[in-house]
Amino acid sequence: MSPLDFDYLRKLLKERSGLDLSADKQYLVESRLVPLARKAGLTGIADLVQKVRGGSDPLTADVVEAMTTNETFFFRDKVPFDHLRASLIPELMQARAGRRSLRIWCAASSTGQEPYSIAMVLKEFSAALAGWRVEIVATDISLGVLEKARAGIFSQFEVQRGLPIQLLVKHFRQVGELWQINADIRGMVQHRHLNLMQDFSHLGSFDVIFCRNVLIYFDQETKIGMFNRLARALEPDGVLALGAAESVVGITDAFKPYPDRRGLYRPNVARSSDAGARLKLVAAAG
Ligand SMILES: C[S@@+](CC[C@H](N)C(=O)[O-])C[C@H]1O[C@@H](n2cnc3c(N)ncnc32)[C@H](O)[C@@H]1O
Repeated sequence: MSPLDFDYLRKLLKERSGLDLSADKQYLVESRLVPLARKAGLTGIADLVQKVRGGSDPLTADVVEAMTTNETFFFRDKVPFDHLRASLIPELMQARAGRRSLRIWCAASSTGQEPYSIAMVLKEFSAALAGWRVEIVATDISLGVLEKARAGIFSQFEVQRGLPIQLLVKHFRQVGELWQINADIRGMVQHRHLNLMQDFSHLGSFDVIFCRNVLIYFDQETKIGMFNRLARALEPDGVLALGAAESVVGITDAFKPYPDRRGLYRPNVARSSDAGARLKLVAAAG
């Protein structure tokens, strides 16, 4: 691949999906885009770049999609789901007893293992949550992963990764060599196409946001902007769950670590009310 084509793709991907490719990732681009070029009947990456430069929207979307990394598994990192079961849901049920609604967003949901893990935990509370409006919104930039997530069909390998056998028996049925998650759990999750680089304020505000193992692909500036927007999408007493290798520390003060709950963060309400107070002062002075 020519340095010019690589440079073009780097800029395109950064702009379209936030993906920050370092200069040594040519091999990654080649391994993902050469098969895509062949499938599109093109001779190689140079040909592909020329078509994308020429303004082919479907091909551009395919390039963005091909460059996403969709690695995921059920109950990944385990700890956030233990917190969800042991403290977050019980605490939120108390805090939301008046309005009887809970909204959870899984912001880079890939093939569905993460939102379905959340749904299986919530299912344990179904008696206590009877009459509540419970929403799990799962979003991803990739249409391919959303299609698989909606079908809720997983291979033997996928159900063996992180899913306790009791939950497999309870919530899945075998379809040939595959496993489909039962309709009641599937029905708890709304899958929607969403690019986190674009405005997501239309989704409304959430009590819990899982945004795990996606910010690692973004550069510092994009992460800072994303944390600010995620903070605005959370209720003041809501919780953000990040991946095991991710943190807000040293990046933003929009969130602060949740004491004693690894991987969980709370919006920094002091900071947003400071900002609110500053705005009011400026408005009053003006
Ligand atoms: C590594 S997977 C993580 C899946 C899941 N959150 C987990 O932790 O197991 C990252 C996901 O982020 C999605 N993604 C990447 N860039 C995105 C963007 N700009 N907007 C929304 N989703 C994005 C990818 O398509 C992929 O499915």
